[in-house]
Amino acid sequence: MTAAPAPAPAIRVRGLRKSYQELAVLRGVDLDVGRGSIVALLGSNGAGKTTVVRILATLLRADGGTALVNGFDVVTQAGDARASMSLTGQFAAVDELLTGRENLVLIARLRHLTTPGAVADELLGRFGLSDAAARRVSTYSGGMRRRLDIAMSLIGDPPVIVLDEPTTGLDPQARLEVWRAVKELAAGGTTVLLTTQYLDEAEQLADRIAILHGGQILVTGTLDELRRLLPPATVEYVEKQPTLEDVFLALVGHRANLGEAGPGGVDPAGADPAATSVPAKEDQ
Ligand SMILES: Nc1ncnc2c1ncn2[C@@H]1O[C@H](COP(=O)(O)OP(=O)(O)OP(=O)(O)O)[C@@H](O)[C@H]1O
Ligand SMILES: [Mg+2]
Repeated sequence: MTAAPAPAPAIRVRGLRKSYQELAVLRGVDLDVGRGSIVALLGSNGAGKTTVVRILATLLRADGGTALVNGFDVVTQAGDARASMSLTGQFAAVDELLTGRENLVLIARLRHLTTPGAVADELLGRFGLSDAAARRVSTYSGGMRRRLDIAMSLIGDPPVIVLDEPTTGLDPQARLEVWRAVKELAAGGTTVLLTTQYLDEAEQLADRIAILHGGQILVTGTLDELRRLLPPATVEYVEKQPTLEDVFLALVGHRANLGEAGPGGVDPAGADPAATSVPAKEDQ
């Protein structure tokens, strides 16, 4: 008996090229995003992350190469590709003058859903925004805005979600809230491609990490695979100091419970002793 063929990845990019005038930004990008996984596309400012996601979202035409979303070519089957994915852009696209609920209902109506109110209420609950549902978005914090933005992109249940720098500009607690929302999405079977310039974000969230540099994907793999690219760690005594993030979170609030530790997971609440206590010192 032969094994069933492996399912095609939710996103498949091959040899993608894009230049702006003289500036060659993408010089042959190859990238696969498996169904139901979270992949982080990591790169410095100007590396070309937004360029890749705009091509995937059919907002920008590549100069060469191919990109498939949910099996649909972004050029020759653009309508189907577009219907398969939703892009949450680098800058929040919510309407400030509407309430959170009105924003969601508006999008649900535009997508011709039959029960826009019920869809809005379900998403408000899922993203912890029920209490703020009737408030204008102009009164929301950055984290609430970002969560609403992500909630809006889920209307119609697209199988693939692309988040362009979902936590840039957010404070540590708001980042944790967005991370939790992204993890829940993937746990529900949605494929997530996110771009980030934060190493810790990739470390905490992603099943696989792809590093974009010099117009190409330098490496791709799980966190453990990427770690193995460096020489093995040497053992040396170092005093473990809490990070500034640990101190900040211990003083201003609690860590959100984000599930299991490990690649693709983060420490559950209070599990990191450095977050709440002074590190042990060697006896004098
Ligand atoms: N419409 C455009 N015209 C000319 N150059 C552009 C255009 N869009 C992007 N670029 C250039 O292409 C390069 C890649 O831009 P891109 O926005 O894809 O980077 P990025 O990785 O998303 O960066 P960031 O982390 O700052 O968001 C940059 O040097 C940028 O200045
Ligand atoms: Mg960008």
